Amino acid sequence: MHRLDTKQIASRSGSPRVAGIVIAATLLCGSASQNPANAQVSGGPVNAGHYASGIAPTALRTPPLNLASLNIRAAAIAKSLATACPVVPYNDEAAFQACTQALKEVKLPLLPDIAWGGDQPDKQIKKRNLTHFDSQVFQTMYLPLYTFSGRYSVEEDKGSHSPVIRLEAYFRNTLPTGDYPYPFWHSADKWSAYETSNEIRMYFNPKGQAFIVTRDAAGSEEQRGPYVKAVTPAFDGNWQWKDANGVAQPHVSLFSSRFSAANPNLPALDQSYRAFALRIRDSSCLNCHTPSNKAQAERLTLLQTPRHAAAEINNVIHEIKNGEMPQDDVGLRKDIPAEERAAVLAAAIAFRNKLTAADRWEAANAAK
Ligand code: HEC
Repeated sequence: MHRLDTKQIASRSGSPRVAGIVIAATLLCGSASQNPANAQVSGGPVNAGHYASGIAPTALRTPPLNLASLNIRAAAIAKSLATACPVVPYNDEAAFQACTQALKEVKLPLLPDIAWGGDQPDKQIKKRNLTHFDSQVFQTMYLPLYTFSGRYSVEEDKGSHSPVIRLEAYFRNTLPTGDYPYPFWHSADKWSAYETSNEIRMYFNPKGQAFIVTRDAAGSEEQRGPYVKAVTPAFDGNWQWKDANGVAQPHVSLFSSRFSAANPNLPALDQSYRAFALRIRDSSCLNCHTPSNKAQAERLTLLQTPRHAAAEINNVIHEIKNGEMPQDDVGLRKDIPAEERAAVLAAAIAFRNKLTAADRWEAANAAK
């Protein structure tokens, strides 16, 4: 397997900006404890003042989560993530696999549908450009790419007053390429944002479920340890590829990473996915629904791999049935011939039915 290569060692406090954060951390938190139960991640330059000024419990305007209960919840989440996915060398494939396995079982307070991406703290929550995810896909494909120190802090989002938990987290940047759900290096900026990120934020609704999860680089570098920047391959425009052994990649986005090899529905599922994938390519869906986000959707829906498409299949059926999709380049409903719409719909429904069958088998036989 091709492993992301590495270049010069980036020291923990290599840049002035990082050094600044470390100092801020010391000032704000004193000796931030290693004990997750009372540890707090320092704020970065943007939010540190907000945090340091202290939030009275009454300032959290969402009644079920006052500061005390938010702290308790944050401690529990931070601890379970640090247990499942502790900070280890960033190329440790076995640790990544173990973390992925563990996260299949960890219960996190996420809504079934969430949005994920870079934080964009200066924008209203609704206006942040994020990617829509089924939370299980997020939790088992994206979250395992991070290691967690167990440190955290809590605050309130300025615009929406949503309670926020900030978890100290560092991105595994030197894994084999097939461990990433798609080539994040399709954009140098995106890759760099992942590499420099040092915290994950969960934004909670009034019912105490996270509806937005973001990454940001305003946290602390203290626990990162040695970090070597990756040399990423050139992106050739393909979201999926075959590796040197002829194996389809990225493997984490294939059904084989979600279903057991013994699942008898896999061949039919694969076939129905292929038929569906061809249809959505021919009907222009993939012009917009890939990480390139050509239509600049504020809530991007990804359809470019089996697991991404599978997670969105009910939304896809809904949109095609209602004539909402496809859109044209100005964002208006695009007329397509009735037979074409019927064919896309039929392929989508066939794919969904095979998924249901595979899921049922898995549920009945998972204990084996
Ligand atoms: C020209 C760009 C474009 C094309 C082509 C396109 N879409 Fe979309 N699609 C968007 C945008 C932008 C959004 C989100 C914004 C919105 O609500 O309009 C979206 C939203 C969606 C959603 C999420 C809807 C929701 O609210 O859950 C689905 C599912 C979807 N599209 C499926 C498809 C399918 C299937 C096709 C092909 C038949 C398609 N799209 C073609 C741009 C496009």
